[in-house]
Amino acid sequence: MTSRFEGRVAFVTGASRGIGKGILEQLASEGAKIAFIDINEDALSQTTTELREKGYEVYSKVADVTKYEEVETATKEVYETFGSIDILVNNAGVIRDNLLFKMSELDWDTIMNVHLKGSFNAAKAVQKYMVENKFGRIINISSTSALGNRGQANYSTAKAGLQGFTKTLAIELGRFGITVNAVAPGFIETEMTKETAARIGISFEDLIEASVTMIPVGRTGKPSDIANAVAFFADDKSSFVSGQVLYVAGGPKD
Ligand SMILES: NC(=O)c1ccc[n+]([C@@H]2O[C@H](COP(=O)([O-])OP(=O)(O)OC[C@H]3O[C@@H](n4cnc5c(N)ncnc54)[C@H](O)[C@@H]3O)[C@@H](O)[C@H]2O)c1
Repeated sequence: MTSRFEGRVAFVTGASRGIGKGILEQLASEGAKIAFIDINEDALSQTTTELREKGYEVYSKVADVTKYEEVETATKEVYETFGSIDILVNNAGVIRDNLLFKMSELDWDTIMNVHLKGSFNAAKAVQKYMVENKFGRIINISSTSALGNRGQANYSTAKAGLQGFTKTLAIELGRFGITVNAVAPGFIETEMTKETAARIGISFEDLIEASVTMIPVGRTGKPSDIANAVAFFADDKSSFVSGQVLYVAGGPKD
């Protein structure tokens, strides 16, 4: 087993399931101690048990990324438990899709709060430990929707915003040994894409089939596809890669 993350501590938001869970599994399998927060209590405790049964060192806590105090408390506990926070992955996310004329103010605010304010909160809480340690890897989960997607005026705005956030933090934090990058997934099979299928009234299998016709490599993505890209940015050796957005979508995006 390789151990490129031996001695590293990773903190992933919204990692009880889906892409976040895949990221935890990949980083832990390569030696990282892992920490995560989520608002889904049942999924959080189930995933914590599952990961511990695999022999990984795990910290987890029910916390909402939109609430700074909750994020700060969790990061402080991670620091006290494991001694550092080296890798932050801003992954927590929700969708509230609708065409503009039907989109409520709450749908707009919820998306901005979870994706943008949530990432701001976690980056702000964690940066002090990274600056002190002169090492850090911050990876923000954007989306191909940042390039525009029907029914996602709120989500595409937030995901494009995260790319600006990424580049700005890369400029501000580079001098402290901290790199900041974004991974922008295409269609990944998770509960989130299942929710999309349900909303548009088709089966998940039909949504996958329709999506595959537009993906050059001829398949949809899995959480492990995103975890692999996150691990590249998190690697010690990626210290000269910062402020980048990597589309992981089975084909080119721009
Ligand atoms: N699935 C895709 O095709 C896809 C594509 C592009 C980007 N993404 C992004 O990837 C990330 C993960 O998505 P996923 O597909 O695994 O979805 P998911 O719904 O399976 O997982 C999201 C997790 O975030 C948690 N969460 C939601 N709000 C939270 C909050 N306020 N505080 C803490 N945790 C919260 C949820 O409880 C859930 O466990 C999201 O940012 C999403 O926007 C997903």
